Amino acid sequence: MKRKTRVALITSGGDCQGLNAAIRGVGKALFEQVDNIEIFGMYDGYRGLIERDYKFMEPKDFSGIITSGGTILGTSRQHYIPGKDIVDENGQSLIPDMLDTYNRLGLDCLIVMGGNGTQKSAKLLADAGMNVITLPKTIDNDIWGTDTTFGFQSAVDIATNVIDYIHSTASSHSRIFVVELMGRDAGWLTLSAGIASGADVVLIPEIPYDVDKVAELIEARKKTGRTFSIVACAEGAVSVHDAKLDEEASRRKKENSLYPTVSYAIAAELEALTGQEARVAVPGHYQRGGPPCPYDRVLATRFGAAAAQLVIQKQYNRMVAIQAEEIVSIPLDEAASRTKFLPIDHPLIRVAREIGICFGD
Ligand code: F6P
Repeated sequence: MKRKTRVALITSGGDCQGLNAAIRGVGKALFEQVDNIEIFGMYDGYRGLIERDYKFMEPKDFSGIITSGGTILGTSRQHYIPGKDIVDENGQSLIPDMLDTYNRLGLDCLIVMGGNGTQKSAKLLADAGMNVITLPKTIDNDIWGTDTTFGFQSAVDIATNVIDYIHSTASSHSRIFVVELMGRDAGWLTLSAGIASGADVVLIPEIPYDVDKVAELIEARKKTGRTFSIVACAEGAVSVHDAKLDEEASRRKKENSLYPTVSYAIAAELEALTGQEARVAVPGHYQRGGPPCPYDRVLATRFGAAAAQLVIQKQYNRMVAIQAEEIVSIPLDEAASRTKFLPIDHPLIRVAREIGICFGD
């Protein structure tokens, strides 16, 4: 009898829209095309692999989930030491436990869906001898080697909607609104939602801002009869001054700040500089929830089916990606090698500047 093909599905790191659509894509494609397939669903990301906590997945588990947010398998974050290890709270490596589960279950490969951190830790598992195939997911769109990630477009839709709704209150009350969007390291989400919603200012981690420049723009708007202004601000936006601080000084500054996040500091500064009332809106994890948009459902399904093809072809240690509309796969080494920041000469930034959006620089 033909040997079984055994794979384990893992969703790891922050959740996002489209994870279930991707799980469904992998599962349906494998059950459809591989005769003797056994699929293990690991609970709560790498935790399930570490603690051997999983379920056998049947074809019915992959039905009726394309529209649902979150992940049916659960997820978790692990402590990752850059390029070195995944450890518990005592600094003990967890990779041997994961390898043990992998061997005991007789797995052919792990199919791991995750963001930047997950790609990097998946590479450590590959280095430890496990076969790994990864799928790029995150609302941040900051994974190297893929034009986009599932989750991103759904989050852009939500963030755009939030700013659309804020517009009427900003206008009625002639206020400045700073809307803080997710994105610690990269500004893709804030830029896209900012352009789509007609924000006046876009502040992103890649372009340190000078608050005086933002205030100047707001004053200029007032002079031409536009009595309100919308600032789309990434949670990782940084002032020109703070961008010069080293990691330790920047951590201390955040700890001692009067404000919970950067947007509150910016709103207070703008109020002082312009004399205009300013408010903050933080949609937070709302941006990661709810049903995936149709684009993400299709993208996650394509990624899932492509991951199944890699299993069939025994092509391991690769990340599925989309480049110029084509689904491809790239070496995991490359995907995990760096973060895809928003290039400051990106065409979208150029367009934004051409229509007068201010980046505070
Ligand atoms: O990476 C996705 C993301 O939503 C970031 O945009 C954000 O900074 C972070 O995760 C928040 O993480 P958590 O859900 O652990 O608070």
